[in-house]
Amino acid sequence: MRNFTFYSPTEFVFGRKTEEQVGILLKKYGASKVLIHFGGGSIIKSGLLPRIETLLKTENIKYILFGGAQPNPRSGLVYQGIKLCKRENIDFILAVGGGSAIDSAKAIAAGAKYDGDFWDFFDGTAIIKAAIKIGVVLTLPASGSEGSHRSVITKEEGMLKRGAGNEFIRPVFSIINPELTFTLPAYQTAAGIVDMMSHIFERYLTKTPNVDLTDRLCEATLVSIIEAGRKVMDDPYDYEARATLCWSGTIAHNGILGVGRVEDWATHQLEHELSARYDVTHGAGLAVMFPAYMKYALDTDIKRFQRLAINVWGVESGSLTPTEIALNGISAMKTFFKKIGMPTSFSEIGALEKDIDFLVNKLFQGKSNNFGAFKPLTPEGARMVYRIACE
Ligand code: NZQ
Ligand code: ZN
Repeated sequence: MRNFTFYSPTEFVFGRKTEEQVGILLKKYGASKVLIHFGGGSIIKSGLLPRIETLLKTENIKYILFGGAQPNPRSGLVYQGIKLCKRENIDFILAVGGGSAIDSAKAIAAGAKYDGDFWDFFDGTAIIKAAIKIGVVLTLPASGSEGSHRSVITKEEGMLKRGAGNEFIRPVFSIINPELTFTLPAYQTAAGIVDMMSHIFERYLTKTPNVDLTDRLCEATLVSIIEAGRKVMDDPYDYEARATLCWSGTIAHNGILGVGRVEDWATHQLEHELSARYDVTHGAGLAVMFPAYMKYALDTDIKRFQRLAINVWGVESGSLTPTEIALNGISAMKTFFKKIGMPTSFSEIGALEKDIDFLVNKLFQGKSNNFGAFKPLTPEGARMVYRIACE
C-alpha cells in the first residue's frame, strides 16, 4: 500500500425526507444569498424545487433560481452563472440534481472567485484557489459528484469535454434521499449504475501491490451495485435497493476506494470523447468503452481480471484457463449492461468507426502521448480500444 492522505470532508445527510434539512444546513454553513442551480426541469415536475423554496423561505434565506444545466454541462451556462453570482453577491450555490447540475455549480463556484476565464482550470493553465461554497441535493446516483472534488464541463467551441478539480469545489454538504430517485427514467438509472461501477473499475485496475483491503472493498461495492441494480430495474420503487445504489455511487467516487493505490482513469477519458462528439450519456458511453478497454488491457494483469470475474461476476473457474475466466467475466459484464438496457458497442450509440482518428486526435489534444497508469495508453492503443468497441 502506498502512503496517502484521505480528506473527504463533505457532510452527508442520508435517508428519507432528508431534503427537509436543507434550510438548516444552509444556515449552518453560513449561506446568506443562495444560487439554486438545477437542470432541465425534472425537479420542477417532481415538485422538489417548490418544496426547497418553501424550506429556504422558512429559514429566511434569500435565493435566486438558475436552471438549465444540460447533460454533459456546457461552458456557456457556466459563464452566465459566474456573471450572476458576481452581480448578486451570491455566497452559496445549492446544486439540485445529478452530476451535470452539480458539476456546472462547481465550475460556476470556482469561476466566480477568479478574475480570468474559468476554462483555464479545465485546460490546465490555472489552479482553483478559491470557490463559493457548494451544497447538494442529489437526485441521481451516478457521477459521485456529490462527494467528489471534480467537475467535468464541455466547452461548446470545439466541443472539448474536460475535467478540473481540487478541494475548494468539494461540496460542504450533500443531502441524499433515495426516494428522490424513484422518478428516474430506467435509462438514467442504468447509466448511473454503469458510471458508479466504472468509478470503481478505474481504481480496481491498478498495478500497486498489496492493496487487498481496497480490492475487497471494491469487489463488495460492485457486487452490491449489481444486486441492487437488478432489483431497481424490476421495481423502481424499491427503497432499499435505491438506497444501496445511492450510497454506492457516493463511495465509488469520494476517494475511499482508491486510497493507497495508483488509479487509472484512461477509460473515462476515452469515453469523454464519445460524449463530446455524439452527446452520448456518460454512463452509456462507459458501457461501450469498459468491456473494450478490459479486453485491450487483459494481458497487463491476467490474475486481476481473473479475480474480478470470479469474485464479482461469479464466473465458475472449473478447468478453464485464467484468460478464459477473465474473458468470461468481461462477457458477464456485457450481458449485465445489456440486461439493464445499456449499449455495449459503437453502433448502438451512433458512433462511427470512421471517426476513430478524429476521436484519438481530440483525446490527445493538450496531453502527453501516453496516459493512464494500468496499461498506459498511446494514440495507437486508444485506436485499438475504439476498434474493439466497434465489435
Ligand atoms: O436536467 P433534468 O431535467 O434535471 O433531468 C436530468 C437529466 O435529463 C434527469 N434527472 C436527474 N434526476 C432525475 C432526473 N429525471 C427524473 N427524476 C430524477 N430524480 O437525468 C438526466 C441526466 O442527468 P445528469 O445530471 O446529466 O446525469 P449524471 O448524474 O449521470 O451526470 C452526468 C455528468 O456527470 C459527469 C459526466 O461526465 C456527465 O457530464 N461526471 C462527473 C464526475 C465528477 N464531477 O466527479 C465524475 C463522473 O465520472 C462523470 O464524468
Ligand atoms: Zn464517470
